Amino acid sequence: MIKNSNIVIAIDGYSSCGKSTVAKDLAKLLNIVFIDSGAMYRCVTLHALRNDIITPSGINEDLLKLSLKDINITFKFDAQSKKNETFLNGQSVESKIRGLEVSNNVSAISAIGFVRKKLVDLQQEMGKTQSIVMDGRDIGTVVFPYADLKIFMTADPNIRAQRRFKEYQLKGEDITIEQVLDNVKQRDYIDENRDESPLRKADDAIVIDNSNLSKDEQLQFIVDELKTRELI
Ligand code: DC
Repeated sequence: MIKNSNIVIAIDGYSSCGKSTVAKDLAKLLNIVFIDSGAMYRCVTLHALRNDIITPSGINEDLLKLSLKDINITFKFDAQSKKNETFLNGQSVESKIRGLEVSNNVSAISAIGFVRKKLVDLQQEMGKTQSIVMDGRDIGTVVFPYADLKIFMTADPNIRAQRRFKEYQLKGEDITIEQVLDNVKQRDYIDENRDESPLRKADDAIVIDNSNLSKDEQLQFIVDELKTRELI
């Protein structure tokens, strides 16, 4: 389906916009690799929580820097469950990294320059030899400034909070919609205002506001764009 041997599709945008969902669907359709860069920041956060690098008094950056070399992140697509799984040092952490404790700390970890440098290097490496769809915050601006297609996704914060609230309910997390909305807004603020690679739309990215779009509609929009560019 892909015309060139190696294409990169960058999907950036606000948290809980369904970036990963559309990126996964697209990767499946095109039969190419999907990389959830947010999962990588979440893995570093989980590692930091588990090793007392994040404490109530803050983040021990010296210790974090030293322990980055002990963090090995891999992804596996399980053909049976048709799900992507994230592994931290060989252990599946897919559900742990989506929990509230990691969510509440990941913005602070992802604002640290040396963490970003390490993960951006890894991400660029992943795009060197294969076609990929990668979703995140800085994929079209920093990681792959020459991506073949850049999408910037957004949606109303209330709608995003509702979506995430449903996910937490399914997992049995004890949380209110107000807390989820606060978390969404707080993360938007941190993502947009941090010094290191703040969230912003690349000049050549196409904006999709999916507040009122179905999963299929947004996927079709991207497929049409790839066809227009003669990439597929
Ligand atoms: O997409 P997500 O919610 O799983 O991302 C988790 C956090 O990681 C979020 O606070 C933003 C940060 N992140 C980032 O700074 N850069 C990326 N490329 C991906 C995620």
